Amino acid sequence: MPQEKILVLDFGGQYNQLIARRVRECHVYAEVVPYTTPLSALLAMEPAGIIFTGGPNSVYDDASPHYDPAILTAGIPVLGICYGAQLIAHMAGGRVESAPVSEYGRTTVFAETDSRLLRHVHAQTTVWMSHTDYIAQAPEGFRVTARTENCPCAAMENDAQRIYAVQFHPEVLHTQEGKIVLRNFVRGICGCRGSWRMDSFVQTAVAQMREKIGDGRVLCALSGGVDSSVAAVLLSKAVGRQLTCVFVDHGLLRKNEGDEVEAIFGPQGPYELNFIRVNAQERFYGRLAGVTEPEKKRKIIGEEFIRVFEEEAKKIGAVDFLAQGTIYPDVIESGLGASATIKSHHNVGGLPDHVEFREIVEPLRMLFKDEVRRLGRELGLPESLVSRQPFPGPGLAIRVIGEVTGEKLAILREADAIFREEMAEAGLDKTANQYFAVLTELRSVGVMGDGRSYDRAVALRSVQTSDFMTADFSRLPWEVLDRVSVRIVNEVRGVNRVLYDITSKPPATVEYE
Ligand code: XMP
Repeated sequence: MPQEKILVLDFGGQYNQLIARRVRECHVYAEVVPYTTPLSALLAMEPAGIIFTGGPNSVYDDASPHYDPAILTAGIPVLGICYGAQLIAHMAGGRVESAPVSEYGRTTVFAETDSRLLRHVHAQTTVWMSHTDYIAQAPEGFRVTARTENCPCAAMENDAQRIYAVQFHPEVLHTQEGKIVLRNFVRGICGCRGSWRMDSFVQTAVAQMREKIGDGRVLCALSGGVDSSVAAVLLSKAVGRQLTCVFVDHGLLRKNEGDEVEAIFGPQGPYELNFIRVNAQERFYGRLAGVTEPEKKRKIIGEEFIRVFEEEAKKIGAVDFLAQGTIYPDVIESGLGASATIKSHHNVGGLPDHVEFREIVEPLRMLFKDEVRRLGRELGLPESLVSRQPFPGPGLAIRVIGEVTGEKLAILREADAIFREEMAEAGLDKTANQYFAVLTELRSVGVMGDGRSYDRAVALRSVQTSDFMTADFSRLPWEVLDRVSVRIVNEVRGVNRVLYDITSKPPATVEYE
C-alpha cells in the first residue's frame, strides 16, 4: 500500500472524486471514504491529511451528516471544503447560518496570503462558489484568511492545530488558483513528498484484485473501448488466465476495429488471458431489420448484446466475478437518477440476468477518463487504443439514419475511415474530441462524369468538448474538408454529396440519433 495517503471524507458533494483526483495530481494517493466511516477506522488507515467535502445539507439541521469532533484534535491536518468548512466551524463552536446573499459561480475573493494554505495565491483571485449557508462567525482560535463581498469568512484556519477551511471549491477548475491551495495543503501542510505515480496505482490495484479474486474465475465483457480494455489488462496482470474476456462483435464497429481488438487481446497478442470473439453480426442485423426509431435501435442492441454475452457465459459455466470497466463519471451518471433521459446511454446494456457470479469487480471505479488513459499507457496498451475517441455502444447503428442494413453500414464504414485518416494526417485527431461520419437518409442529384447520379449524402461531424455535455463544432480547415469530400465521393460508391455539420450542442447532440 502507498505510504502517503489523503482521505477525502464524503459528505455528499458533487465534486468529491474531483478532490481525490486533484490530490493525485499532486502525486499523492487519495481515496474517497463515506462520512459514516468511524474515526478509529480513519485513523487506522494512517492518512497524512483528511479533506471534508461539500454536501447539500445545512450543518445546523440535526439530521445532516456530522462527524466525530475528536477528529479535530487527532493531530492530523484537516481541510474542510464548502459544507466541510461549515461543519468544522460548527464543530469548533463557530456560527453557521443561512447567508443573506447566496453565492453561485465565479466570485472574487480577497485572501491573506501569509496563510500557509493560501501561499502563492494572489491577494485578489477568482474562485468557484456554490453555497446558501455561510460561516457567520469563525470559532475561537480560528483566523479568517479570505473574504468576498458577501461572505465574511471565505476561508479560516487554526494553523497551530493544522485545521483549515475554505468556503469555495478549490477542486473545480473555475477556481483559478485552486490547485495551488490543494497543493499547499497536501504537500506543504500535510508534508507529503509526492512520490505517488500511476505505476503505484497499478501495483496497488493488482494487489487488491489478487486479494479479492483469490483463485476465483473472472468474466469480462470487452468492447475494445478504452475502459474495458484497460480493466481487462489490469485484471490479466493480476490473475492471468483466471480471466476470460468475451468480445461481442455486433457488426456495428468501425472499419477493421474487430480485428484490431482481436490482435491485441487474442492469442497472438501480448496479454495472458482467455479471449473469446463472438461474431454476431447476422443476429444484430436480423433484429435491426426494419427498425428506424433511434431509441428502439439502442434497446434492441443492448438486449441482444446481453443475450449473446449470456450465451457465451453459459458455455464457460459459473464464474465468481463479473468485471466491468466502470469509471468514475459512470458512477456519477448512474447516481443522478432524477435527470431527464435525453438518450439512454449504455455500452453493454446493464448486467446480464442469467450469468451466475458472486460479485462485481470494477478496478477503474475511482478514476477519471484521462487517468484511465494514463493507466493504459502505463500498462503498455497501444496509443491508438489508449487515446481512442469515444465510440457509442450501439456503434454505427446510430450513425446510419433510419433502417440499418449491411449495405449502408459498408458505405458508412468507408466514408468514416477516410475522414478519420485525413484528420490524423492533418494532426487534427489530437485536438478534435470526437469526429465521425454519418450516413443520412438524404438522396440528391449530382453529376458524375457525363451521367446523372442520385445518391446518398454523408454528413461529417467533429466537435470540441471537455465533458460531452456541451460541445462546439470544430472549425476544421477548408483544405482538410475539401480533401475528405473529394476522397469520399471518389472512393465510396453510392455517395455523391458530403456535408459538414456546423451545429453545436445544445441545441444538437453529438450523435445524430
Ligand atoms: P450525445 O449524442 O448525447 O453524445 O450528445 C454525447 C456522448 O455520448 C456518446 N453517446 C453514447 N455512448 N451509448 C454510448 O455508449 C449511447 O447510446 C450513446 N449515445 C451517445 C456520444 O458518442 C458522445 O461521446
